[in-house]
Amino acid sequence: MNIARFDLEFWLNPLDSVAKYNFGSSCCKPVTVSEMLELTGTDREEFFKEIENMSLHYGWFEGMPRMKKAIADLYTDVVTPEMVLSVHGGTGANSIVCQALCGPGENVVCILPSYQQHYSIPEALGTEVRIYNCGEGEEYTVDLDKVRAMVDKDTKMICLTNPGNPTGYTFTKEELEELVDMAREADAYLLCDEIYRGLSKDYMWSAADLYEKAIVTSSTSKVFSSAGTRVGWIVTRDLSIKEDLMNLRSFNSICEGPINELIAAIILESKDVFYERNRKIVEEARNVFHDWIKTQPHLRLACESAGPTSYVYYDFDIPAQEFAEDLLAKKNVLVCQGGVFQQEKSFRIGYGFGDVEYFKEGLALLGEYIKELE
Ligand SMILES: Cc1ncc(COP(=O)(O)O)c(C=O)c1O
Repeated sequence: MNIARFDLEFWLNPLDSVAKYNFGSSCCKPVTVSEMLELTGTDREEFFKEIENMSLHYGWFEGMPRMKKAIADLYTDVVTPEMVLSVHGGTGANSIVCQALCGPGENVVCILPSYQQHYSIPEALGTEVRIYNCGEGEEYTVDLDKVRAMVDKDTKMICLTNPGNPTGYTFTKEELEELVDMAREADAYLLCDEIYRGLSKDYMWSAADLYEKAIVTSSTSKVFSSAGTRVGWIVTRDLSIKEDLMNLRSFNSICEGPINELIAAIILESKDVFYERNRKIVEEARNVFHDWIKTQPHLRLACESAGPTSYVYYDFDIPAQEFAEDLLAKKNVLVCQGGVFQQEKSFRIGYGFGDVEYFKEGLALLGEYIKELE
C-alpha cells in the first residue's frame, strides 16, 4: 500500500519523552488502574477476582456486551448496542471505516484541520479526496457552503472531527444538521471522529444522534483518560455495512482483549465522572491559557475550543516545524507544530494533563521565546 507518512505520529512521538514541558499531547490526564477503581466506585476485590477468573482466550467478536451497552449509552436512544463494534483504538476505528468504504471512482470530502487518517487512507485506496480547509489563509472559518459545493453524487463520505483536533472547534447542532442534509442529498456517509466529545456542560450532539448514515469513531484515549486500554469503537446506524466493517476488522485484529474491554466497560459506565473530572482539569488550564494569550500580541487563537487543546497562529515568518523545534531546543517546551495538520505558522497546545503550575512555568518559557523572536 502506497500511503503517505503519518506526519503527526512521526513528528510528535519521538519528542514526547524528550521535552521538560510537554504540551504536545491531546489526552486528558491518564488514570492508573487504582484511580479508575476509586473514581468509578468499583469493588477492588470483585474486580481482581473477575480478572483472575477470566479466560485469556480471544475476546468477543463484536465486543464485550456490557461494554457495547455502555458505549450505546453515550448517545441518544437511536443508538443501540448492535450498532456498536469494538475495535483497536480510535485509529483502528478510522482505519477500518476508510478501508471498508473507500475505493476508486468515488470521492470523500474532508473538513480540515483534522486527523490524517480521514484523507490519507482514502487517497491511498485511489479515492479522490476533496479538502475544505477551515484554516486556509491562517484565519479559521467554517463555511459549510464550500463543503456543499464539493459534495456530489459520487461522494462516499463527508469526514470531520468533532470536537476538532487540533482546534477543539465544536460544530453546533445546526451545523451538524446542515452536514447531514448535504450527506443525505448525496446518499453519502458522514464519518465523524468524536474522540474529544463530552467535555462541555451541555449534551454534545453526536452525528450518530442525527443521521441514519452517520458513522462515528471514538475511543477511551482522550476524555476517558485511558489510551492504554486501546479500546476504540465504531457506531454505525446503517447495519448494512456492519459485515464489511467486521470483515475488515477480522483481517486487522480479529477482536479486542477481554481485560481491556472490562476496564473500558467500567470507565464508560461512569462516563459522567470522567466528563466532570476532565472538564474541570481542562477548563482550569484553558482559563490560564486564555489569560496568558491576552498578554501575547504575536499570538492569536484560531477559535474557541471545547477539547483539551487549542490552536494558535503566530505572526512571525517562520515555518511551523522550525518554530516548534527551535522552541524545544531553546526552552525545552514542546507544542505540536501546525505542519502536521496541513497548517502553517501555527501550533497546537495541549493542556489536559492536570498540572496548572507546570503549565504556567512552560507558558512563561514560551512567552520568553516569543519575546526573543521580536
Ligand atoms: C481525532 C483523533 N482520532 C483518533 C486518534 C487516535 O486515537 P487512539 O489513541 O484511540 O487510537 C487521535 C489521537 O490523537 C485523534 O486526535
